[in-house]
Amino acid sequence: MEITAGALHLRPWKPSDADEVFRACQDPEIPRWTRIPAPYTREHAEDFVCRQSMEAWASATSAPLAVVDATTEALLASVALQDMTDEGDAEIAYWCAADARGQDVTTRAAAALLRWGFGALGLERVEWRAAVGNHASRRVAEKLGFTLDGTLRSAIVLGDGVRHDCWIGSRLATDPPV
Ligand SMILES: CC(C)(COP(=O)(O)OP(=O)(O)OC[C@H]1O[C@@H](n2cnc3c(N)ncnc32)[C@H](O)[C@@H]1OP(=O)(O)O)[C@@H](O)C(=O)NCCC(=O)NCCS
Repeated sequence: MEITAGALHLRPWKPSDADEVFRACQDPEIPRWTRIPAPYTREHAEDFVCRQSMEAWASATSAPLAVVDATTEALLASVALQDMTDEGDAEIAYWCAADARGQDVTTRAAAALLRWGFGALGLERVEWRAAVGNHASRRVAEKLGFTLDGTLRSAIVLGDGVRHDCWIGSRLATDPPV
């Protein structure tokens, strides 16, 4: 499964991505706001690209994709649809390498992923969750057409292993295009 969206290329993870994943995830903002472990080791990166992502595709419950520059193939971001159910539910997740932020990379990549999810996969509802205070993630969700549904108490465990309140939003297949 590969998607080309202008200058971005979305493709499944490869073992050779381990170095770039390890490097990107040294940025403290990623474990601060996501569930990836901290400190993030080279072994974590290898396990993610060689085992976790492949098992996810094999189980058909998760679609994790690397977002790379279509020309240079440099790793820019990670986007995923996860916890997919037979009823058409899924959750969206993303992070962006620090030096690629602020260029609409995550929004463009996630928009392409959502088009595939709602179109080819027939998803009916995609959920977005972010720890309260993650304004950059919330802005991305807004740009993607998610509706903020509310705040859940102590509903997310981040890389620090601690429970945090989280914002929750949703986008439905029937929502108007953004
Ligand atoms: C959230 C994240 C993926 C966004 O990636 P990105 O490629 O920079 O996103 P985009 O460029 O598509 O859009 C970012 C938007 O957030 C805005 N933004 C960035 N920091 C912000 C902040 N502190 N407060 C409010 N808005 C902010 C940007 O201005 C931009 O909005 P705009 O286009 O209206 O100007 C990135 O910051 C990241 O990897 N953060 C750490 C991991 C993370 O939080 N993942 C999400 C977990 S739910």
